[in-house]
Amino acid sequence: MTEYVCEALSRKHDRKQFDCGVEELNSYLARSASQDVKRKVAAVFVLCPQNDSGRIAGFYTLCSTSIELMGLPKDVQKRLPRYPQVPGVLIGRLARDIDFPGLGTLLLADALSRCVEASKQIAASVIVVDAKDDAARQFHEKFGFQILPRLPSRLFFSMATAEKL
Ligand SMILES: CC(C)(COP(=O)(O)OP(=O)(O)OC[C@H]1O[C@@H](n2cnc3c(N)ncnc32)[C@H](O)[C@@H]1OP(=O)(O)O)[C@@H](O)C(=O)NCCC(=O)NCCS
Repeated sequence: MTEYVCEALSRKHDRKQFDCGVEELNSYLARSASQDVKRKVAAVFVLCPQNDSGRIAGFYTLCSTSIELMGLPKDVQKRLPRYPQVPGVLIGRLARDIDFPGLGTLLLADALSRCVEASKQIAASVIVVDAKDDAARQFHEKFGFQILPRLPSRLFFSMATAEKL
């Protein structure tokens, strides 16, 4: 069975070979991801086969965000303090190469675990994802992400729940 390593994007990774079937995401990784890292607007993590460490099988990006308390469902609001903004981590992009079907779950699990670790140093109550289309929304809903009522293209997951997983 292939083992994978997840690490920060660096020069050793072949960004141009990556193909997830969505041109916008391919071109983000090939052309913009390193710049985003340099400018500190996103941290980019890549999942690589242990026996082919330059190959990118999947990637995701993380950055800090905040969402309006009032934008969360009422039952979630009740469990949070009355601050207007709730701190969070945004999984802005997440994709796997078409040659690696089935890696989506591993990618998301790795992203969630990294969010939990990061939140121990810089607090964040929610994990937020941008779902670019219905398929992406359905993928995340499968794992328990809930739609933000005021922003249906964004979904959230409670950090407390991620910590328990
Ligand atoms: C979305 C994506 C990451 C899923 O990767 P994957 O390797 O197919 O995911 P997995 O095989 O681990 O799927 C996990 C579960 O989600 C389901 N799933 C996967 N893609 C789905 C989709 N498009 N719609 C609904 N459910 C989906 C699978 O059926 C599976 O459920 P099961 O365990 O009950 O069979 C991948 O298709 C991809 O990279 N797409 C292009 C980029 C993209 O759309 N990213 C979304 C965020 S921007």
